Amino acid sequence: MNSVVSAPVSVALPQAEEIVRLTDVKRRFGTTPALDGVSLTVRKGEIVGIIGRSGAGKSTLIRCLNGLEQADSGEIHIEGRNITGLSEKELQPLRRRIGMIFQHFNLLSAKTVEENVALPLKIEGLSKAERLKRAAELLDLVGLSDKAKAYPSSLSGGQKQRVGIARALAARPALLLSDEATSALDPETTRSILVLLKDINRKLGLTILLITHEMEVVRSVADRVAVIDAGRIVEEGQVWSVFADPQAPITQSLLSGIRPQLPDTIAARLSPVSGAEQILSIDMAGPAAQGTLFADLSQALPQSFRLVHGGIDHIQDQPVARFFIAVPTRDAALPEQVQNFLKARGARVEVLGYDTNHA
Ligand SMILES: Nc1ncnc2c1ncn2[C@@H]1O[C@H](COP(=O)(O)OP(=O)(O)OP(=O)(O)O)[C@@H](O)[C@H]1O
Ligand SMILES: [Mg+2]
Repeated sequence: MNSVVSAPVSVALPQAEEIVRLTDVKRRFGTTPALDGVSLTVRKGEIVGIIGRSGAGKSTLIRCLNGLEQADSGEIHIEGRNITGLSEKELQPLRRRIGMIFQHFNLLSAKTVEENVALPLKIEGLSKAERLKRAAELLDLVGLSDKAKAYPSSLSGGQKQRVGIARALAARPALLLSDEATSALDPETTRSILVLLKDINRKLGLTILLITHEMEVVRSVADRVAVIDAGRIVEEGQVWSVFADPQAPITQSLLSGIRPQLPDTIAARLSPVSGAEQILSIDMAGPAAQGTLFADLSQALPQSFRLVHGGIDHIQDQPVARFFIAVPTRDAALPEQVQNFLKARGARVEVLGYDTNHA
């Protein structure tokens, strides 16, 4: 293994309080193990993304967290309290510590925006004036003060989700759970909702656990990501490091849409044994991706490569680079010299094959 992702980066405080702790949680439906031994910790102030394909167990996980579903075995702690085996009545106060936002917003169409936001506060026993004051503050936070008296049917999808977020925050929860909250929105609106969530996370120190099947959502807001497949967490880590060096095939597959891939035309004519050029993938992240690698390579080994595809992304303020280059094979020693040069500079290098076509 190369040191491509070993750079130290501080994200959440390591000593921060645990808001969620799952220990070996299992839940089976008939013969389907929806959750097959999930362990996960979310600390105060973190945004953790859980990503997985359809049927991976994401919603089951969320339902276990808010007590809508009982785990068969394992333990679930919310703010240090074990919720496994609690009765409906015992769960009520704990559930109020968790705000939820949904793909289809779940707003009450017969109530105004401010009434929707104020609704969770009725249970708290606040007076109407207090409830409306709090609703006004929350609508201000989500940028919808001018829609307080409007009905949900007159709002756009993005505005509805802002109301959903304001409502979820009304009772000052310790944790915001988001189950595909941006899946029904267009890319631009998705971005604006993600910016809002990040903003709230920073302003209020709110802990967020978001479930999604979109890597882009994880990329733009999460600090950490856990990849779930067939009820198991198969990969977990800081977002930038998982993106820089995905280990599990499912993670690689989920990332294929947003990481540079070898162009199809070249992939189609790739030979595993020989060709005019050797095709390499180069992965670098953190400090290793900040230097003048290609300029230095050109100088050390003139005319040793051709840039084929790739780029540098910035995730959590860390550069994450992925490039594809073609190295001529007419000088038989050159490909190995190039590889050694790149590896010495902290890059992860993989030989993908040989381009049979390029002269
Ligand atoms: N109430 C249920 N009864 C039977 N099987 C269920 C039930 N709930 C979930 N499952 C099964 O458990 C597995 C995980 O389902 P879950 O809804 O958690 O997946 P998901 O990751 O949320 O998928 P999606 O992305 O499609 O929402 C699936 O195989 C599903 O069919
Ligand atoms: Mg689901």
